[in-house]
Amino acid sequence: MRCVTLEHEEDFDGWRTAARALALANVPPEDVTWQVGDTPQDLFGDEAVLEDNSRATLTVPKPFLQLAQSVICHSERERFALLYRMLLRLQKNREALQDRADPLRKRLEELRKSVARDIHKMRAFVRFREVQTEDETRFVAWFEPEHHIVRTNAPFFQRRFASMNWSILTPELCAHWDGETLSFTEGATKADAPAGDPVEETWKTYFASIFNPARMKVKAMTAEMPKKYWKNMPESALIPDMIAGARAREMTMVQTSREGIARAGDNRAKSLSALREEAEGCRRCDLWKPATQLVFGEGPVDAALMLIGEQPGDQEDLAGRPFVGPAGQLLDRFLSDVGIDRSATYVTNAVKHFKYEQRGKRRIHSKPNGGEIDACRWWLTQEIDLVQPKVTVALGASAARAMLGKTVTISKTRGAAIELPDGSEGWVTVHPSYLLRIPDQGRAEEERARFREDLATVKARVAALT
Ligand code: URA
Repeated sequence: MRCVTLEHEEDFDGWRTAARALALANVPPEDVTWQVGDTPQDLFGDEAVLEDNSRATLTVPKPFLQLAQSVICHSERERFALLYRMLLRLQKNREALQDRADPLRKRLEELRKSVARDIHKMRAFVRFREVQTEDETRFVAWFEPEHHIVRTNAPFFQRRFASMNWSILTPELCAHWDGETLSFTEGATKADAPAGDPVEETWKTYFASIFNPARMKVKAMTAEMPKKYWKNMPESALIPDMIAGARAREMTMVQTSREGIARAGDNRAKSLSALREEAEGCRRCDLWKPATQLVFGEGPVDAALMLIGEQPGDQEDLAGRPFVGPAGQLLDRFLSDVGIDRSATYVTNAVKHFKYEQRGKRRIHSKPNGGEIDACRWWLTQEIDLVQPKVTVALGASAARAMLGKTVTISKTRGAAIELPDGSEGWVTVHPSYLLRIPDQGRAEEERARFREDLATVKARVAALT
């Protein structure tokens, strides 16, 4: 029996080194025990064997490394062994990760998802409180993650709150940022964290003022923001009263008239048109200057499917509507081929103003840059929040960046569902204008068939989720 002792719970490098050596020595999974602790043990009791073997090659598909980096953060004790089992399987079959029905792959995927959710929750629900000492102002938060995600998640807070000195205290590990260095110390208790601060009242007032009872879904809210997080969030003190108040108001509406309920449903549509009006005055980047007008998304506010394009083209800019030019007409043909009803779909763009270069009388489309996409994401995320689609499809790389908040490669992300932060499904495919530009007839046909398949899959996913 081999015993591997990893330095800490998220010790991916330690796991990788050990797993690699074990795999090269053909050690079966049942002969290995994994533990976490301070006293590193000798893997084989014979360093020479480890050294020799570690020079041999062992490769794995890149998605496995990404999966392993995430799964390693799970609190499940078996995670190291499960990953090792998959590592061995991949040595025999490099496609093993593609087998969606395989119980081991399924289990690892569940662990990955659970870690991703925990990471998202930490980003959404950490609330800093200001602490003034003689030397500094520090912002301190208390958080209780389900998994070992503090080390992995800390760089996000470092980037987001780069100019603040902050500490995030958790029972297992605390992360600290002093403007230059990220450091970690042992776990803390809740009593070590401050309970409130002077700006908290202002924050509560703001939260109460933006609360909209017509948009409140208690089940969805408690699924997205489980009660265990409430205790660390100043605004959560208001939630029980607001829920109670909202229920009472809802009951009155039901009793008063059925029209009243319909009106409540209309609120989302009203919010969407208010959002559009607000976007008309957008100055978040300079693209509004040469454009004729804003081209906002259109479609039913309760659409189960949202399509995101890149940006309006020449014709959209003149018409003020998305996807009405050549790419839009091609898109319409594919949608109708697979039986997706465009009128039941919310269609929008990553960027809401036409970006172009003037060449003589012609306005030539020019790609939005990352800064422009990110600036316009302000509107897109609010459209998504209001429409709450079950499935969102990004058409092309700019749309994918807007949907996911980071640059991705179409070829790597295409063909599989991506879990979006609100738990809904995201899909990435090519942009229809790409299909218009392929010079080779045969390849164009192939690519069009693939695009049609993508849309057919999306249609099936919408049907399964509604
Ligand atoms: N291309 C897009 O991405 N969006 C449009 O609205 C039109 C063309």
